[in-house]
Amino acid sequence: MQPETRVEVVRRLRALLPRGVEVPPRTTSLSVSRYLDRREHDAELRALFRRYPTVVAHASELPEPGWCVATRLGDVPLLLVRDGERARVFLNACRHRGAELLRPGAGCRRKSLVCPYHAWTYGLDGALLGVPREDTFAALDRDALGLVEVAAERRHGFLWACLEGPVDVRAHLGPALDDDLAGFGLAEHARVGSREHDVRANWKLLMDAFAEGYHVRSLHRDSLARYFLEVSLTDDLNPHVRHVGARASFRDAEVPDIRRDTTPFYNLFPNSILVLHPNSISWVTLQPEGVGRTRFVHRMLARPGDADAAALERSFAFIDEQVFAREDLATAESIQRALATGANDHVLLGAQEEGMRLFHRNRDRAIARELETSRESG
Ligand code: FES
Ligand SMILES: [Fe+2]
Repeated sequence: MQPETRVEVVRRLRALLPRGVEVPPRTTSLSVSRYLDRREHDAELRALFRRYPTVVAHASELPEPGWCVATRLGDVPLLLVRDGERARVFLNACRHRGAELLRPGAGCRRKSLVCPYHAWTYGLDGALLGVPREDTFAALDRDALGLVEVAAERRHGFLWACLEGPVDVRAHLGPALDDDLAGFGLAEHARVGSREHDVRANWKLLMDAFAEGYHVRSLHRDSLARYFLEVSLTDDLNPHVRHVGARASFRDAEVPDIRRDTTPFYNLFPNSILVLHPNSISWVTLQPEGVGRTRFVHRMLARPGDADAAALERSFAFIDEQVFAREDLATAESIQRALATGANDHVLLGAQEEGMRLFHRNRDRAIARELETSRESG
C-alpha cells in the first residue's frame, strides 16, 4: 500500500471509530443454489477460473533453475517449471496419453521431465526430447508434441497464470490494487509455512469467510477478537475487494501504522486471499474439487528479518490450526451441510458484509459476460 493510500485509510478508519462501518444499514440476499448447483459450479470453472489471471505460486516456491511444482488452477492440473531465470507454466498432462508428469506436492529439482507412464521425456522448456521405442510410432511429429504452455507472468513476487487468453496482471489488478501490492514488497518475501486442508464446502463459502469482518467478534471470540476493534472499511476494487480492519492498538496510536495497527486483507478475484498480519502474510488459494469440496491452501510469507523463525512458526500454527481450521473452515462445512438440506433458500447480508456482496456481484457479472460471449459466438 502506498503512503498516500495509507494516510487516507487511517483517516477513514478514525472517522469510523464511533460507528464501525461506512455503509448505511441494508439487507440483501443471495440464493443458495450458487453453493449447491453443479451447473453454477461448471459456469464458474469456465467464466472465472479459465478467463482470469490467477496466482499459482510465490516466486520463492521455485527457488532454483530446474525447480518443478505441480498444482491446479480450477480443475486443470498445472506444472510450474523454473527454466533458467524464467518461470513457465504447462498443462500437467503428457502429450502421449495424458498422464500427470508430476504429482501435486512438494517441489523437486529436475533436469528434464520424464512421464512416469511410458517415459516420454520433455525439456524444461516443454519440448519433447525423447520417446522410448520411437521406431514403433509412425511419423511422430515431435515439434508438435511439446507440453502445452499456459500464459504466465511474474508480478509482485507471485507467478500468475491464465488458461485462456493473455496475462496482463497490471490490467487485471487495476492501478489501485497494483499500487497497494507494490507497496508491500511481496517479492522480498519467502514462503515460511504451508498447509493444505481438504474442506467439505463450496469454495465460495471459504471466500465469504474472508470477505467480511462481521464474524470476528463471535466466531473468533476466543482467538482473534481481542486483537481487533469492530471497525473496518471495504473498497470495491472491481473485481477485487480491499478490506482494512482496525486492530486494538489503532484507537490509541498517535500515528497509526498500517501493518501494526490495522490488518489489510484482499479478495483477489477469483480465488486468492491475502491477509497482511503485522510481521507476515497469509496467502490463501481456494481450489475447487467439486461443488461441495475445496482444497484450501494456506501459505505464510515473511520477509527475512521481520520476525524470528520460532515466532513465525507459532503465528502460523495459531492462524492455520485455530483461526482457520477450527473456526472458519469448520463453520463453512457446517453451512454447506445445512444448505444442502434445503434449510434456507437464501442467505442474508447486512452492511458489515459489503465485501461479500461485492465478491458475489463480480462472480455473477463474470458468468453473465461468459454467457453473453458464448451466445454471440455460438
Ligand atoms: S502417458 Fe506419458 S509416456 Fe505415455
Ligand atoms: Fe474468519
